[in-house]
Amino acid sequence: MPKTFFITTAIDYTNSPPHIGHAYEKVLADVIARYQRLKGDNVFFLTGVDQHGQKVQQSAAKAGVPPAEFVKEVTHKFVDLWKKLDVNYDGWAETTNELHKKVVQGILQSLFDAGQIYKDKQAGYYSVRQEQFLTDKERGPDGEFGPEWGQIEFREEENYYFKLSQHKEWLLRYLDSRQDAVIPDFRQRELRNAVEKLSGDLCISRPKSRLDWGIELPFDKNFVNYVWFDALTNYISFAGYDSAIHDYERQPSQFFERWPALQIIGKDILVPAHGIYWLIMLHAIGFPDEAMPQLLVHGWWNLGGAKMSKSAGNVVDPFLLIEKYGADALRYYLMSDIGTGQDADFSEERLIERYNANLANSLGNLLNRTLTMVGRYQDGRIAFPEGEWLRSEDEPATESYVRNIISQIKAYKSHMSPESTFSIPFALPLTLGPFVANAAIGNVLGMLDLGNRRVEDAAPWKLAKGSDKDSTTRLNAVLYSLTETLRIVAILLSPILPRAANGIFDQLNWKMELSGKEERFSLADAEWGKLPDGHVVGKPVPLFPRIEIREDV
Ligand code: MSP
Repeated sequence: MPKTFFITTAIDYTNSPPHIGHAYEKVLADVIARYQRLKGDNVFFLTGVDQHGQKVQQSAAKAGVPPAEFVKEVTHKFVDLWKKLDVNYDGWAETTNELHKKVVQGILQSLFDAGQIYKDKQAGYYSVRQEQFLTDKERGPDGEFGPEWGQIEFREEENYYFKLSQHKEWLLRYLDSRQDAVIPDFRQRELRNAVEKLSGDLCISRPKSRLDWGIELPFDKNFVNYVWFDALTNYISFAGYDSAIHDYERQPSQFFERWPALQIIGKDILVPAHGIYWLIMLHAIGFPDEAMPQLLVHGWWNLGGAKMSKSAGNVVDPFLLIEKYGADALRYYLMSDIGTGQDADFSEERLIERYNANLANSLGNLLNRTLTMVGRYQDGRIAFPEGEWLRSEDEPATESYVRNIISQIKAYKSHMSPESTFSIPFALPLTLGPFVANAAIGNVLGMLDLGNRRVEDAAPWKLAKGSDKDSTTRLNAVLYSLTETLRIVAILLSPILPRAANGIFDQLNWKMELSGKEERFSLADAEWGKLPDGHVVGKPVPLFPRIEIREDV
């Protein structure tokens, strides 16, 4: 059985509706998943929502509805957004799901039985806003706790703890043995430094008296699990993991075929959540080192240089942008205007600029001009130029054009999915950095530039006037290469802009029987020369109407 490409995202908190940061992460994962499907891989793409916890309980109370009802409503907004944005997942994780709860409880029980979880009493200063005990590390230079902690009170409380620090040496060894455990590499260094400073264990519970919106501890009904054991476990509970089976090798075959995953997360939840808690949790429940997931850490979309946050009132609403510009325009902007792993500043003007320059102009024009010319000069029927035209001495410009296009296709592939170096079948290597969608998009733009320049240089309208054999061969060669370029561009754009790719294929009148289906596109078809002699193309229809800049933008 070939290994399934398993990709996950963080699950979003359901205390407030989605913003552009959530949309970015899910589109990034969707693009990677679609690219793997394009390559012919079996893909399992898991995403979902994080429904428990203090913040949700508080937001629900504020709204005056029970938490279950509150999360249902917010969850619906996330589902709706993914539908609108064509985020095409295979598995959907909701942490209030009964099966998930069972897996979480099973894992907690087995760690408790193995002596990895113990009860202890903690006394100290407690931040009500951040829901955590504070230590001297959190004090400012003046010896006081800063305003970010909100109201501080002295508390004494019994809770359950997971023996996190016991696994510190293992985690350091693991990170040293695998250089691409976390990508990009500077994030792995950041994690390693944090692990070196690790001390103390992880509090995993809250007394029900102050938080009841959570999963009950199987060994003490007066407590609920607090946050991370519940949230992180989704990655395995929704992939078929059976917590009753303690031997990793004996897990159900469905889980075995999927795991380990490539996990997409934002930089804020690498340390300590995923890089420390999650890896140690997996190790503690018996996952071998080869079964550790790979973490792909993306940066943040900021607004005016500042972090987006609901409390600061500076979040960007993805629904509004979709309504104004369409799903493809938003997907395109989110994938092209940020380097994977880096931060970027969100700008609606740049969204419009990029759309107009790249999609309306470069792509839209090439499609429109090509189809118009094939219609006008060849009755809509493209023709193979005579002879061995790729190497034709009659048409050296086409020869070098094709060479340049082929090298852009090659570069696109290496940007989209670098070859694996680690034993995990789909691991991304360090050297090529993280998955770089913006660079792959650059290669597609390069192909479009070549095409548009070819139109200017070859001036098909002049060739069409000549009635000699030479002019006909050249005209055939030029129009064939432009149409073929567009066919390949549609395939390469399909993971990023699925709707537009379908639109291009429709106008090329290509693979019509598969209209709207994912199988319509395959990377194996992104090879020069697959359009047959005599193929009849369709009529041009504007795919990307220009966006006029309005005053209120
Ligand atoms: N529920 C936790 C994650 C649990 S995963 C087992 C959580 N939720 S979140 O809603 O706050 O964030 C979800 C994801 O969105 C995180 O990966 C986070 O980094 C990402 N983003 C939130 N705001 C973002 C930006 N402004 N820009 C890019 N991504 C950001 O954390």
